Amino acid sequence: MVKRWRRYGDVFSSRFPIFGRVVYVADPTLVKEVFMGDPATFHAGEANSLALGDALGDHSLLTLDEERHLSQRKLLLPPFHGESVRRYIEVMAEATEREVARWPIGKEIQLRPRMQAITLEVILRAVFGVRDDARMDLFRERIPPLGETTSILNWLPFMERDLGGITPAARFRRALAAVDELIYAEIADRRAEPSEDNRDDVLSLLLRARHEDGSAMTDSELRDELMTLLTAGHETTATGLAWAFERLLRTPRVLERLTASLDDDDYVDAVVKETLRVRPVVVDVARKLTRDTEVAGWHLPAGMLVLPAIAVLHKRPDLYEDPEEFRPERWIEGNPESYAWIPFGGGVRRCIGASFAQVEMKTVLREVLRRVRLRAPTQRPERGVIRHVTVVPGRGARAIVEDRLPVVEAAAELAGAHNGRAGGADARSEVGVRGHD
Ligand code: HEM
Repeated sequence: MVKRWRRYGDVFSSRFPIFGRVVYVADPTLVKEVFMGDPATFHAGEANSLALGDALGDHSLLTLDEERHLSQRKLLLPPFHGESVRRYIEVMAEATEREVARWPIGKEIQLRPRMQAITLEVILRAVFGVRDDARMDLFRERIPPLGETTSILNWLPFMERDLGGITPAARFRRALAAVDELIYAEIADRRAEPSEDNRDDVLSLLLRARHEDGSAMTDSELRDELMTLLTAGHETTATGLAWAFERLLRTPRVLERLTASLDDDDYVDAVVKETLRVRPVVVDVARKLTRDTEVAGWHLPAGMLVLPAIAVLHKRPDLYEDPEEFRPERWIEGNPESYAWIPFGGGVRRCIGASFAQVEMKTVLREVLRRVRLRAPTQRPERGVIRHVTVVPGRGARAIVEDRLPVVEAAAELAGAHNGRAGGADARSEVGVRGHD
């Protein structure tokens, strides 16, 4: 894609078998034009439905547009505000501690599945509020098949047919029904619980949230938003973490500095930002035009997809010096221009989990590097491969655990320390992030 930008400039098109011709924009000013464009003209929900299908339901924040989108977004935003997500640091630290304790010494492991286990546990505890161990185990068992059965093949019309339950689409529907059953059971139990007010997980906050007309969210609204948060928040964050380790283990200077600076929130924050710049998890975001529109000086027809090209923008040498280099220090020296760093998209569709994801990435990096010494089995970089709508390290982010390190603090104390220490810095970085898009 970067090659196409070099050849054709800031606006270029590509043709895909399923989507037809699409237009990419790869310049901060043009990206701003798209993100700030009228949401009635630039439909993100319709574009997301093309990639995500109908599994998320009729109320999903990801697939709705215009008024219905805004009304759901208002309900979902408060629990994900920068200040609010700090309450989940303890859950994040504990999930990491439990996972790292299982890693074998001296053997090669893939970090991406290990990160998925952590981020899944975090979503189930912090977002769904699951406390029952038996239900937790059932969720852990039933969610992974859901990820394995969604693939580009599902978009092909013949795959939609059931054919006696053997097609990927049929397997996917079965996997979805199994997870739905658990989500509805959790919602029912929580509605029946008298003491729901003491809880601070996202589901509890949504149970207390009210639409503008004073009505509460229905069971199917809650189910669709929980499924949306799971889909949007679990694998993305795990992949961001997998890339962070893939880069760190191949950049010894940065790994060394980070390991020595785990208490320096600015540096940990810079490592996360630099990871999401040099290896963005989502490489582009789409808007579908609802009417003929002029974009970047071109007349584009209704129905066309316009995509801010995240991965291209992040590698422009005029925006980032030595763009291929993994150098977190660039974030301490200064911020790039607005709309030059957009791993979380932008405008009224900007990722609502951006703060949550960054706090989680920082917490997991800290907790892992406090506990084990890692090295890469080879210095050759892992190539990115497309998995659903994300780009993941092709070999699963391979690593060898060399040693366990003596950890003196108890997890709870540690998390308490992060709470106090990271607070101001996280709030600051959220402001900084907004400044970019
Ligand atoms: C590193 C991790 C993550 C990355 C890279 C990421 C990236 C993105 C991107 C690129 C979008 C589309 C924005 C646009 O169209 O302009 C998005 C949307 C969204 N993300 Fe994330 N995300 C991450 C983590 C999370 C987490 C942890 C959650 C929640 C638990 C979450 C929930 C959502 C939701 C609900 C939307 C839809 C927002 C809307 O359409 O209004 N994401 N994310």
